[in-house]
Amino acid sequence: MAAFGTLAAFTRKALDRADDLARDRWYGVDTGGYASTGELGTDVRESVHYATMPWRHVRAALACVPLDERERVLLDYGCGRGRVLVAAAARPYRRVIGVELSRLAEDARANLAAMRGRRTQDVCVERGDAGAFVVPDDVNLAYFYNPFRGAVLDRVIGQLQASLQRAPRTLYVAYFNHDHFDRQLGDAAWLRRRETRMATADTSFALYEASA
Ligand SMILES: C[S@@+](CC[C@H](N)C(=O)[O-])C[C@H]1O[C@@H](n2cnc3c(N)ncnc32)[C@H](O)[C@@H]1O
Repeated sequence: MAAFGTLAAFTRKALDRADDLARDRWYGVDTGGYASTGELGTDVRESVHYATMPWRHVRAALACVPLDERERVLLDYGCGRGRVLVAAAARPYRRVIGVELSRLAEDARANLAAMRGRRTQDVCVERGDAGAFVVPDDVNLAYFYNPFRGAVLDRVIGQLQASLQRAPRTLYVAYFNHDHFDRQLGDAAWLRRRETRMATADTSFALYEASA
């Protein structure tokens, strides 16, 4: 039985890899791979390496947000090479924004510029520390794939709250591997968890809804 589980997991990963390559090729982008904090020159205590979720999980996460696509202003915190930005920009979003500390910001820009079938025209990638990034007051969907922790995450939570106070609205937070986030949020009343599930055997997903 254990052997069957191992075989099923191996097959699932192989299928995901094939699907990821096919989707990148379809869009004419290159968003896969892995880069350590050492390779990226980022702070190992607070920043996480570059990796991205399989395309099917990115699409499922975006699909469960109860917002009309044409109204969506997405901010990917730690956008890496831009897979999430490409997935969003392939749909008619109002605006798509990425923030990335490392040189991968250049890859994300190149991928957005080269992508086939882009339907969102208003796209941008800011290179810099997410903690210092002032959240535009029209952002209504923040996406995280466990990009950082500690003081950076605290500052980001503060920036999101500040934006909601400046411009009260409903804002959704889609988060893969949200343990640090939950710990740092504590029992914050401004953010309510709507949904939690295991996306893979070792990666959790949660969708939160915030309002000022
Ligand atoms: C796990 S990857 C996720 C990439 C992308 N969101 C995705 O899902 O495809 C985390 C990314 O966050 C970036 N990052 C880490 N610390 C950061 C910071 N303080 N500000 C902005 N980006 C940061 C890393 O360089 C890395 O590219």
